[in-house]
Amino acid sequence: MIIAIDGPAASGKGTLAKRLAEHLGFACLDTGLLYRAVGRDVRSRGFRLDDTWAAVAAARGLDPVSLTDPGLRGTVAGDAASIVARIPEVRAALLAYQRDFARQPPGAVLDGRDIGTVVCPEADVKIFVTASPEVRARRRFSEFQAFGMDVAYETVLADILTRDARDAGRPNAPMVVATDAMLLDTSNLSIEAAFDAAVGLIKRKIGQPGR
Ligand code: DC
Repeated sequence: MIIAIDGPAASGKGTLAKRLAEHLGFACLDTGLLYRAVGRDVRSRGFRLDDTWAAVAAARGLDPVSLTDPGLRGTVAGDAASIVARIPEVRAALLAYQRDFARQPPGAVLDGRDIGTVVCPEADVKIFVTASPEVRARRRFSEFQAFGMDVAYETVLADILTRDARDAGRPNAPMVVATDAMLLDTSNLSIEAAFDAAVGLIKRKIGQPGR
């Protein structure tokens, strides 16, 4: 069984995907990490992020073990990921890994931007997680504050809007709601409430998973 969770930055889709995978006993892949790792490797080799040749080489040579690198978290790595993710050949190079992961028994949860539309259009369940830009910026801002980082809320909001525009505006595999996806707006939901709502959507679609 394949569960596709798509949505914009800071929508809560990563947390939700992990919780769902644990609940169902499925494997979980945060596909954003693949693009983040490509960005990291392009930079560490001294190339520009929009250098197609360097980015494709990094994507083709990506070591999945390196996805646990804590340096992949954070907005700098996220912005870098969003830039290399615009290159169609980079996306193509990462496709087989994602599809192989998705097909493992008994099932997998993948989260990203194009899981339900491009990576796994055949997914059994597709959920598009969203929240208003202001709510997403507020969540990010609180995380930064908890880490003692001095960033203005307006800066965080501007970064989120820039990333949304880049991810939704690219010609190749843009972030878009799949026609058969179910929408989950987490603007007014706690993590727990979002999880319960997602389980409800999955049950509605395919019955009683994991119970
Ligand atoms: O989900 P995330 O914030 O870690 O993703 C980082 C960037 O990677 C995101 O801004 C766009 C890109 N990405 C993508 O293009 N396709 C995916 N399936 C996942 C991420």
